[in-house]
Amino acid sequence: MKKKLIAGNWKMNGNLAANEALLKGLLTGVGQDACQVAVCVPSVYLAQCQTLLAGSVIELGAQDVSAHESGAYTGEIASAMLKEFGARFVIVGHSERRQYHAETDELVAAKAQRVLSSGITPIVCVGETLAEREAGKTEEVVKRQLAAVIHTNGHCISEVVVAYEPVWAIGTGLSATAEQAQQVHAVLRAQLKAATPNADRIKLLYGGSMNAANAKSLLAQPDIDGGLIGGAALKAQDFLTIIAAAS
Ligand code: 13P
Repeated sequence: MKKKLIAGNWKMNGNLAANEALLKGLLTGVGQDACQVAVCVPSVYLAQCQTLLAGSVIELGAQDVSAHESGAYTGEIASAMLKEFGARFVIVGHSERRQYHAETDELVAAKAQRVLSSGITPIVCVGETLAEREAGKTEEVVKRQLAAVIHTNGHCISEVVVAYEPVWAIGTGLSATAEQAQQVHAVLRAQLKAATPNADRIKLLYGGSMNAANAKSLLAQPDIDGGLIGGAALKAQDFLTIIAAAS
């Protein structure tokens, strides 16, 4: 069976002291036989976290990246730069980027392509808003978002991680039920199967108020291969409980 992946998305949280305390807490509690574990930190803290995590089983990730290779793009960070600081993963297309920074499906697909070409694994986020769910458009929306990434990345699609994050479940404490999540994951798996013979290898994560209490039932679903965790990834004990549920 493929190992599950539990990835923390710290979002715009942390400081030098808090990061060190959190990572030390995780390193004390995580066993060698744990599932795959990653923390996606604010880019300015990559160097700090790279040092703290050196030689450990916890991998490092970033939360966003430029679609461009290099050049006159003030404020942006290139994928090759993230790679230099040990990033193994980069989240692309998080709903907060789509919502607050007007990122389109095409831009997200281009970012995924850039990340892949620098040898990093993109964690591509898809998910519907509450209005879209209530209008019965969940499948249509997630399929459209994933289709753009498949279209741009061709056979390399088997190298991505996909995270289903219903927007209404993010930061609200209102997780999708295990059944609701599995239903969408099955749709995404079928879409990936039509695109690549290696679809079963692709990790499909669930994100949106996953916590120490609900992780086990979500992770027991056949098409849920891990989690992308926001709030609960900022508390060492909660994150360790989720890791244990996946291991
Ligand atoms: P929460 O776990 O805080 O709901 O955040 C989920 C998320 O957006 C992870 O990327």
